[in-house]
Amino acid sequence: MKYQAPRGTYDILPEDIKKWHYIENIIRKLTSLYNYSEVRTPIFEQLDLFQRSVGEDTDIVEKEMYTFEDKKGRNLALRPEGTASIARMVAERNLQSSKKEPLRLWYEGPMFRYSRPQKGRHRQFYQFGVECIGSPKPIVDAEIIAIGWQILQEAKVPDVSLEINSVGCPDCRDKYNILLKNFLYKDRDKYCEDCQRRMEQNPLRVFDCKNNICRHLIVNAPRMLDNLCEECAQHFKEVKKNLEMMNVPFTVNPEIVRGLDYYTKTAFEYKINYLGAQDALGGGGRYDGLIEYLGGKQIPAVGLSMGLERIILSLEKSGFSFPEEDNLEVFIIPIGAEALQASIDMMQELHKADISAVVADENSSIGNNLKLCDKNNVSFAVLIGGNELKSGLYVVKNIKKKSQSEVIKEEVINFIKTNEGVA
Ligand code: HAM
Repeated sequence: MKYQAPRGTYDILPEDIKKWHYIENIIRKLTSLYNYSEVRTPIFEQLDLFQRSVGEDTDIVEKEMYTFEDKKGRNLALRPEGTASIARMVAERNLQSSKKEPLRLWYEGPMFRYSRPQKGRHRQFYQFGVECIGSPKPIVDAEIIAIGWQILQEAKVPDVSLEINSVGCPDCRDKYNILLKNFLYKDRDKYCEDCQRRMEQNPLRVFDCKNNICRHLIVNAPRMLDNLCEECAQHFKEVKKNLEMMNVPFTVNPEIVRGLDYYTKTAFEYKINYLGAQDALGGGGRYDGLIEYLGGKQIPAVGLSMGLERIILSLEKSGFSFPEEDNLEVFIIPIGAEALQASIDMMQELHKADISAVVADENSSIGNNLKLCDKNNVSFAVLIGGNELKSGLYVVKNIKKKSQSEVIKEEVINFIKTNEGVA
């Protein structure tokens, strides 16, 4: 029986890990510059947490959740995203007090959505996110949007555009929902079944529908952006002003409603147009009501997440060459079993000096072991056999330079250090 990784999942192989490290290093650098602290939350949570926060009528909760019962009959779900867990953690541990600076958190890890796998869409995928908790100020929305923008710029992802919108607060959205419902009801029967149901429960979700007929029908629908209350309109104006001050270019797209229910006011997406249907590299927005809704204090918050696979795919498509990572420095070749102890000692000395080294198979021929050095891009080989043990002089080969020296055993580390990088 030959096993395969489950559909929609994949392995990250040694030759690909540099791509992940490349983007993760940029994320670590920028989150640190903006003073965000890393947090790690469980990979599964109570099912109800996602139903309540992401929303019952969203695609994620309706169609894409991995749910299961544990041995005690508790209903659990693999996390489809990170924000609900962060809001749960803040509410549960009462993490933010209003006197302090906002709490700035970031995370990265696997998320799970049961969607149809295709390029840039997986069932297990990696997201990183930043969440700023405790400030209602528009400058914080702009800060979050700028972090995502800077990460994509620093990573050199080509042709990204930033689209922003406001989805209002519960007050103006309730009034707008009546307007929208009236509009949708005019052609009620022409919409798909999902949309007809959404019209009743959450009419804004109709903007999420991918069905071409529904998309066509809503072209002239009233927009949230034209129906914001004064406070939300002012907030949006200031977010735009702050983004301009930060030199972050954006366009306003009134159709950005996001596929999750917890948003209030600002909503945004980073878009590309060369990955087919997977046109969002990331997105986010403000969620001022979520923490309270999950049993915490009334704490405003704003955040964003990005899919790492899509960032890597964008870079691959543009022909970007990811920085190489360090190769094995030293291959120690024992010539026969009698040299094994000395070879192990040499390896341990090299490790103490922070030089990567492994011991080769003592039963393999010298020729074969030297071939492995070429194949694995090793810098040095140290050969130890009966003669070397007697004389205390080890043979050190500089593989790239194709040169060879006899070096006193105690001097091998110094020799390698001074010849490092000499090709
Ligand atoms: P989201 O838009 O659902 O937002 O996901 C953010 C990003 O995760 C997407 O733009 C995409 O890059 C990636 N992503 C989503 N689903 C998949 C998938 N099946 N395969 C590969 N990548 C995927 C959120 O998750 C919110 N938590 C964002 C947020 C943070 N809002 C406030 N704070």
